[in-house]
Amino acid sequence: MKTLREYIKEAEKKSVAIGHFNISNLEGLHAIYNAARKLNLPVIIGVSEGEENFIGREEVVALIRTIRERDNYPIFLNADHHKSFETVVACIDAGFDSVIIDGTKLNFEENVKVTKQCVDYARNVTKETGRDILVEAELGYIGEGSNIKDKVPEGAGILTKPEEAEKFIKMTGIDLLAPSVGSIHGLIKSGKPHINAELVTQIRKITGVPLVLHGGSGLRDIDFTNAIKAGISIVHINTEIRVAYTEGLNKSLVDSPDEVVPYKVSKPAQDMIEAVVFERLKLFNGIK
Ligand code: G3H
Ligand code: ZN
Repeated sequence: MKTLREYIKEAEKKSVAIGHFNISNLEGLHAIYNAARKLNLPVIIGVSEGEENFIGREEVVALIRTIRERDNYPIFLNADHHKSFETVVACIDAGFDSVIIDGTKLNFEENVKVTKQCVDYARNVTKETGRDILVEAELGYIGEGSNIKDKVPEGAGILTKPEEAEKFIKMTGIDLLAPSVGSIHGLIKSGKPHINAELVTQIRKITGVPLVLHGGSGLRDIDFTNAIKAGISIVHINTEIRVAYTEGLNKSLVDSPDEVVPYKVSKPAQDMIEAVVFERLKLFNGIK
């Protein structure tokens, strides 16, 4: 099987993007995997620090590895928005395929320092074990939290400067960059800003590394397609999955108040997540 790095390269060549979807539980994992399988596309499962604590770090590694080996299927695991060197190390050691060191709350120098520390650690593990581990970092600020917001939060949406991105990559050696190009984490009731596709093109060109679009929930289809054409190779979706899960679960509880079998209660939630992921994957891959 190709490595995640190779799948990203292939996506870039084809001008498509790999979907990255967050999970909090097994229903989410099955839903995402079912959707990806139906379309025969590689897929990345992400867990934030909170999601990872809920599922269990080693447990989630075992789940993804089991599916990948059992079905010989390209499903990968990413440590999404991990805030410290220590949590990144724990994920690398546990067997994650990629990690995101999120130093966006730090100043440029501190962000460089912690990111470089993570890159060095990952490279050492690769040297010792042969495992290819991708390290991603974020530059600029696209807000926090995959939840529903009334408006764009104060301070979010600071766009990444191409020259700063170039300098950051030279100083850290990261494999993937999450730039701020217009999206914001979460669903914004008043709508999300448009993606600045021209900025995506400039950053991709000047940095030479594959780019990751965060804050995908609620973006317009045209923004996704323009961003992918401009050089985005991975797209992150979380809030839409969380909304599908809670809406499906609420409906199930209302429709079948006497149902007590957990896998029957949560099946509509799983189906709703699968439908969301299926549509997003089609869009990211130009499938009609
Ligand atoms: O890392 C996770 C994502 O960037 C998700 O953003 O909740 O807006 O889809 P979202
Ligand atoms: Zn994100």
